[in-house]
Amino acid sequence: MRPLKMIAEMSKATVHMKDPEHLEQILESIKDSGPNTLQVISDFDMTLTRFAYNGKRCPTSHNVLDNSKLISKTCQAEMKNLLNTYYPIEIDSTRSIEEKLPLMVEWWTKVHNLLIEQKIRKDQLTAVVKESNVILREGYQLFFHHLHELDIPLLIFSAGVGDVLEEVIRQAGVLHPNVKVFSNYMDFDESGVLHDFKGELIHVYNKREGALLNTQHFQEIQSRHNVMLLGDSLGDLTMADGVQDLQNILKIGYLNDKANTHEHLHKGMHTYKCRYPFSHYFSHPAVEERKQSYLDSYDIVLERDESMDVPNAILQYIT
Ligand code: C5P
Ligand code: MG
Repeated sequence: MRPLKMIAEMSKATVHMKDPEHLEQILESIKDSGPNTLQVISDFDMTLTRFAYNGKRCPTSHNVLDNSKLISKTCQAEMKNLLNTYYPIEIDSTRSIEEKLPLMVEWWTKVHNLLIEQKIRKDQLTAVVKESNVILREGYQLFFHHLHELDIPLLIFSAGVGDVLEEVIRQAGVLHPNVKVFSNYMDFDESGVLHDFKGELIHVYNKREGALLNTQHFQEIQSRHNVMLLGDSLGDLTMADGVQDLQNILKIGYLNDKANTHEHLHKGMHTYKCRYPFSHYFSHPAVEERKQSYLDSYDIVLERDESMDVPNAILQYIT
């Protein structure tokens, strides 16, 4: 039987594909090579975490901090203004990545500087994550456990805040040894107060596995020429660029929304200020507008899907 017919989850209404035959070839080829040739590279925010829950937006790793008691009201307002300015640019399909690049650097730099001003303490992060509304997608346990069991490396490549997202995964009990996180990590001074961010800034449009060259993770994955890539942004598509002698890449993209203002992301669990009421959110024409570009670049597009069902079913099939 054809692979796609054997994977029941592929007939879910949320699943879209431009070229099912090509997808089947990739699936067969990865399956034939076996699990020791596979690595998974995934984005974090809005890919491993839920976009919405009970009709309310869920926070990104940055928002976990923005919405917390660690940040002053004035700073929260400044963050919100930045989000309303730059997020529409991040997801604007009419602008080129080149055009967006400096603006994204500008956004991340401003936000990191604001966070530094807040003198966040390392020992406050556990509580802040616990109190947040961040939720991993349904079926995350199976996803993490399956990869752990088969010893398949999972690289989480995130433009979010490493310390926060690692804590989310730790609290969910799935920070297994096969998981590596590549993200913006906070640098704390000797008294445990945030005074900088470590390494080179990672924003949504400079994600490349090449950035990992010479790291220990890179040594570990050198023999793994097949990649399953998970993302929710077009910027996530380059995450596997540094993989040497890439044989097959299977790209799964979550198509979330396009919002005009993101008031609701900030404390916004309550304050919706989008141009469209939330009930109309998902039939928002802007999603349709982005769908074609997602179909052109991801092998599988998952629209309005808050679960890991499809990635899980694919992993079960190919490993
Ligand atoms: O993990 P991932 O790479 O998806 O994290 C980046 C996401 O965080 C972006 O999609 C962006 O919209 C969001 N972000 C945010 N607040 C910021 C900067 C980025 O919510 N200050
Ligand atoms: Mg994301």
